[in-house]
Amino acid sequence: MEAADVEKDLTGVLFTEAQIQAKLGEMAAQIEADYEGRDLLMVGVLRGAVMVMADLARGLGRHVEMDWMAVSSYGSGTKSSGVVRILKDLDTDISGRHVLVVDEIIDTGLTLSWLISNLSSRRPASVEIATLLRKPDALAMPVEPKYIGWDIANEFVVGYGLDYDERFRNLRDIATLAPHVYGG
Ligand code: PRP
Repeated sequence: MEAADVEKDLTGVLFTEAQIQAKLGEMAAQIEADYEGRDLLMVGVLRGAVMVMADLARGLGRHVEMDWMAVSSYGSGTKSSGVVRILKDLDTDISGRHVLVVDEIIDTGLTLSWLISNLSSRRPASVEIATLLRKPDALAMPVEPKYIGWDIANEFVVGYGLDYDERFRNLRDIATLAPHVYGG
């Protein structure tokens, strides 16, 4: 889906498909250099990370394994409750493995700070984070992504995996959502 297809629901395009692909290419080059000579297991956080994982992994000129987790941070009311539950666990034993968690956005940081602590307890050789976007609130959480595409302001963004009510994930660009869509 192109931004023009849902023009009325957007206030603007933050990052175009071309900008996203260029940024992921830079991140892939860095990852390739950092993990040279080591095996790599990329762990995507469903569902939003599907697009980033697909493009980042294909940007690597080397072998990589992929696995997926699904977590819910809405188990008990709002995200601020701090409750995170595993809905789908890894199929892979990560003990002794180099793990790179891939997500499309860090917002409050709750999901990934919990996930990193959970994965760390499984004794991986290393665990790092790659995220395409990070919001300012995340800076207050104990989450330190090694690879970040862009820091963005606290706006409601959709596209490239990011949804509003399960829609807009298939938008090629990352865009800001018009207030009338979310009743603002
Ligand atoms: C999004 C995103 C991150 C998380 C970030 O997932 O993929 O995993 O929120 O938010 P946080 O930093 O405030 O924890 P979401 O729970 O919306 O699920 P989805 O990937 O299925 O859209």
